[in-house]
Amino acid sequence: MLFVNAGVKNDDRETIADVSTEEFTRVMVTNALSPLRVIETFKDRVSPSGTIAVMSSGQGSLTNNTNGNYEVYRGSKAALNMFMRQLCRPSSGCAHTAVDGAGLGANRYGAGSA
Ligand SMILES: NC(=O)c1ccc[n+]([C@@H]2O[C@H](COP(=O)([O-])OP(=O)(O)OC[C@H]3O[C@@H](n4cnc5c(N)ncnc54)[C@H](OP(=O)(O)O)[C@@H]3O)[C@@H](O)[C@H]2O)c1
Repeated sequence: MLFVNAGVKNDDRETIADVSTEEFTRVMVTNALSPLRVIETFKDRVSPSGTIAVMSSGQGSLTNNTNGNYEVYRGSKAALNMFMRQLCRPSSGCAHTAVDGAGLGANRYGAGSA
């Protein structure tokens, strides 16, 4: 299994309207781009029946965002979810599972048995 857990958030009080470009970039690069780069670097070390997973968040759900808040962080995890979906499209035959329990969320994909 390859599991990418690293992630950051910005100040909770900081909205998309007042976040600096540097801080927005830090959160997006760390949470959305870097996990995919880690996967690209290490995916060949995972066996075909293994699992590659990233730590997402329930905050990344469009459906569940009924109260706003944490918008920069939410955007970064929503982007991560999209990139993982792109990596493992339902039509490609690999399993794709979004998990969100006890405050933890993960997107998981694997070849066949994940
Ligand atoms: N806490 C929650 O309620 C919650 C809920 C849902 C999802 N999550 C997600 O779960 C994951 C872990 O969250 P946490 O609450 O455990 O956060 P945390 O205590 O702040 O830990 C974050 C970890 O990510 C590492 N990290 C951050 N930026 C990095 C970078 N650029 N390169 C390498 N490592 C980096 C940190 O390393 P250093 O210690 O070296 O800085 C630290 O080990 C994150 O993806 C977060 O979004 C958390």
